Amino acid sequence: MLGLIATRSISKEVSGIEDLVKDVELRIRFGLMAYEALEKIKVDRTDVMARAKLEATSGELGYALLLKKIRPDVLNATDAEIAQAAWSTVPPVSPLFWSFRIMVALGFFFIGLFATAFVLASRGRIASSRAFLWVALLALPTPWIAGELGWIVAEVGRQPWVIEG
Ligand code: HEM
Repeated sequence: MLGLIATRSISKEVSGIEDLVKDVELRIRFGLMAYEALEKIKVDRTDVMARAKLEATSGELGYALLLKKIRPDVLNATDAEIAQAAWSTVPPVSPLFWSFRIMVALGFFFIGLFATAFVLASRGRIASSRAFLWVALLALPTPWIAGELGWIVAEVGRQPWVIEG
């Protein structure tokens, strides 16, 4: 199910966090090449080599800028600082983990609740089913809770960017 949601396919791989971070580390290094080329172009706008280098790596420039939070002179970043910047792209895992699962659990609970309501109502027994009526009453805030949790999944899950790539 995660594969379907994450890749919109039944055959593409779902990467784990550590693999994604390794990929980000590589993109930061390419981003640094773009950053360096940009600095050269600022000094000499006719620098053809630097322009070609920027052209080839500009897609990753934003990744190099992740280092700005760690050190302003990003070109001197150490391997450890590059790793730290790469790990800063990982959203907070536990709020996402729990928000997503509780939202989905509530989604399935609603299906069960409405199926039960349908059966009881079809048999003309809904008004006399005290237990069901209590559950239905107590369930009143849960769609709102599921909606808020979904919002947390969407907003916390896209940190640290609104748009990536
Ligand atoms: C089987 C049950 C459910 C599944 C598999 C599911 C899945 C998801 C996923 C994957 C997202 C993140 C979307 C994204 O930003 O990429 C999401 C967001 C959300 N979900 Fe659920 N969800 C379920 C049930 C519910 C229920 C029952 C509610 C509310 C009653 C709900 C309300 C929301 C809301 C409001 C968002 C945020 C949408 C946004 O701001 O973009 N979800 N859900």
